Amino acid sequence: MPELNWVGKDKVITHHLDVPYRVLERQYSFDETGQHSEDNGSENMIIHGDNLEALKALLPRYEGRIDCIYIDPPYNTGNEGWVYSDAVNDPRIKKWLGQVVGKESEDLSRHDKWLCMMYPRLRLLQRLLAPTGVIFISIDDNEAANLKLICDEVFGSACFVADIAVVSNLKGRSNAKYIATAHEHLMMYRGPDFVSNGVVMPDEYLKEYKLRDELGGYRLQGLRKRGAASRREDAPNLFYPFSYNPVSGELTADPVSTGADDITILPKFPDGSDGAWRWGRKTAQERINELEVKLVKGRNEYDVYQKEYLNRNGEERRPKPKSIWQGSEFSSEAGTLELKKIMGKGVFETPKSSALIEYCLSQVSKPDCLVLDSFAGSGTTAHAVLKANAVDGQNRSFILVELGDYADTVTAERVRRVIKGFKGTQTGEDRSVSARGGGTRFMS
Ligand SMILES: C[S@@+](CC[C@H](N)C(=O)[O-])C[C@H]1O[C@@H](n2cnc3c(N)ncnc32)[C@H](O)[C@@H]1O
Repeated sequence: MPELNWVGKDKVITHHLDVPYRVLERQYSFDETGQHSEDNGSENMIIHGDNLEALKALLPRYEGRIDCIYIDPPYNTGNEGWVYSDAVNDPRIKKWLGQVVGKESEDLSRHDKWLCMMYPRLRLLQRLLAPTGVIFISIDDNEAANLKLICDEVFGSACFVADIAVVSNLKGRSNAKYIATAHEHLMMYRGPDFVSNGVVMPDEYLKEYKLRDELGGYRLQGLRKRGAASRREDAPNLFYPFSYNPVSGELTADPVSTGADDITILPKFPDGSDGAWRWGRKTAQERINELEVKLVKGRNEYDVYQKEYLNRNGEERRPKPKSIWQGSEFSSEAGTLELKKIMGKGVFETPKSSALIEYCLSQVSKPDCLVLDSFAGSGTTAHAVLKANAVDGQNRSFILVELGDYADTVTAERVRRVIKGFKGTQTGEDRSVSARGGGTRFMS
């Protein structure tokens, strides 16, 4: 497997092991009734400090226990005018680089610095991630290629799920020279045992489920396999006949001799060559009521179709998310407007939209899912967790880490306002007002 090398890598590769275990000190607790000096026992936590130390401090209690990690690290755009340094030039990080990488750190390029900063933090995140968990990392073109390579190394290339394109600005940014960039990246890696919960059925798919029977709405999907490994020789046991009686409409996958009027239906490509069914014979026998026979248009041949129900056995069908996430709710503008409503104008430059993080969370099925964001910024991840709980009544909790001096005045303050039930523009869509419940503890 190709591995990325950069100046300083040898100094940071095992650095996470040398980071001392510090004890987190609880400063105060907060819930709907206000701030308390005594611990309110909430699982939620906002930590003020460098995430390297914070993640190490979390390790004894949370190793292998975090179900979902969302991080949005500095993109390394070089921008120094924001409330945080987007060029790995925060004086605390510069000092840390000097200590860890030594004299050589003066010669590091901006990419070397960023990689030195990220690598040990990703190592700790990997140890915190549950085997059934999943991590999402927002990034843009400045470091996407480098991030992919170090994540392959840290999480294992077999655990790479997707480099999702999130359309952050549909019109495209005007500041780039040749291309009006309209998307950012969201790298998704899974723990080895992750099982996706899928996502809510998008409206455009719902329209396809327009057929109905006594079990509800469904659409027809050909039972013959499509795509790779769909030939008879790829899966000989998936090549078997159905018997269909066009008069009675009876269909069977049983290996019985057919009656005089019965027709044999085999999985055939349009050119007549042998294909394979998607279901084995046993499944077809057990779920025969979910199959339907139709005459194929223009071929005067029968074929078998699966009735794919919108709800099966009381469970709503949840499709896989696509590799492009597009919608006004995911845009940078949505994040900015949302934060402005809660905190006023100009407190933080690059907030994500809570809908984006809720979409990530929806793919994790655990009802008491533990969510970690170690580059918390304005606290969008906590907002998303509280909103998601308010919507479906589940009991997710969050751990946030923020280095900036605004960890209390912005990150924690946003969470306090959301918990209290922010009294902002209370329109029907402003779900921030209903994201009540759940306390938090502020640690440093
Ligand atoms: C791109 S912003 C995150 C924005 C966030 N997703 C939101 O929606 O508001 C990156 C954040 O990471 C923080 N950060 C950078 N280095 C850090 C470190 N070593 N430890 C903790 N936080 C750090 C920065 O201060 C900044 O607030």
